[in-house]
Amino acid sequence: MEYAIEVEGLTKLYGDLKAVNNISFKVREGEVFAFLGPNGAGKTTTVEIIETIRNPTKGKVKVLGYDISKSTREIKERIGVLPQEFISFERLTVKETLTYFSNLYKKHADIDEIIDTIDLRDKENELYMNLSGGLKQRVGVAIALVNDPDVIFLDEPTTGLDPRARRDVWDAVAGLKKQGKTVFLTTHYMEEAEYLADSIAIIHKGRIVAEGTLDELLRQYGHQSTLLIKGGKAGEIAGALKKDGYSAEETNGNVEVKISKRDAVIDILFHLKEKGIYYREIDIRHSDLEDVFLNLTGEKLKEET
Ligand SMILES: Nc1ncnc2c1ncn2[C@@H]1O[C@H](COP(=O)(O)OP(=O)(O)OP(=O)(O)O)[C@@H](O)[C@H]1O
Ligand SMILES: [Mg+2]
Repeated sequence: MEYAIEVEGLTKLYGDLKAVNNISFKVREGEVFAFLGPNGAGKTTTVEIIETIRNPTKGKVKVLGYDISKSTREIKERIGVLPQEFISFERLTVKETLTYFSNLYKKHADIDEIIDTIDLRDKENELYMNLSGGLKQRVGVAIALVNDPDVIFLDEPTTGLDPRARRDVWDAVAGLKKQGKTVFLTTHYMEEAEYLADSIAIIHKGRIVAEGTLDELLRQYGHQSTLLIKGGKAGEIAGALKKDGYSAEETNGNVEVKISKRDAVIDILFHLKEKGIYYREIDIRHSDLEDVFLNLTGEKLKEET
């Protein structure tokens, strides 16, 4: 089978609210698929329908070839789930926790193997309540593995974690992919999707606004790169470049130039040198998923903090 998940025309209404609005996509077996979108976009609703936890209003969903409306049991046995903001039993150790969850299923993975995969050996006898946020999330990922699932759903596994702890969770996810598991990741962190995902679907207000690999999304919806020229007389630099047809703008005392071709940077610097115009340093900023999101929706993906 080529696809682990197939979603066609999925819609979920809550009263008048179209939480999920006629979306279709496919997830290939063995890939990390990122469902990227801001708060309230419809990520959890979609993922919990696929997990057979919520019912759809309309549409068809297949998981590992099984229809969610008919084969709930079969699907539940073969998937692993880390719910958003998951909390486990406070006073169970890591190992007791995994043993408890493991016993809920017919099929069991080896708990010691999971502990090694998720790098929890040092903490196996620690109470859940004494773990840091990052370790708690890793225990959550470990719980999602107790039935040796083929598809693992992780709903915002790193929200609220510091960069170091986030990195550790990313390592755990990358490890799952290496084992051949399919991972369905929802996130509102573009860095997470950039770092982990083989393919990305961007969801906004219940609709998928773009889908593809990171490269495809950047190529299709990203801006050109931006050259930042710092130091020197910004007005003079911007004026000289504008005269020559470049889209140069003064911002905060620096000059920003949108560049479409890589060799344009050399042209610009050569141009300034020829005219004897001084600057102190340059910086090049490439477009990222944040630009893609902004271009598609006119909104920022990142929450202002
Ligand atoms: N059970 C429910 N009843 C009514 N409205 C709901 C319900 N669940 C979700 N919603 C609404 O549906 C929309 C999508 O919610 P959802 O939780 O799927 O978004 P999300 O992308 O997961 O957001 P977040 O990043 O905050 O987790 C939101 O407007 C939410 O308030
Ligand atoms: Mg959510």
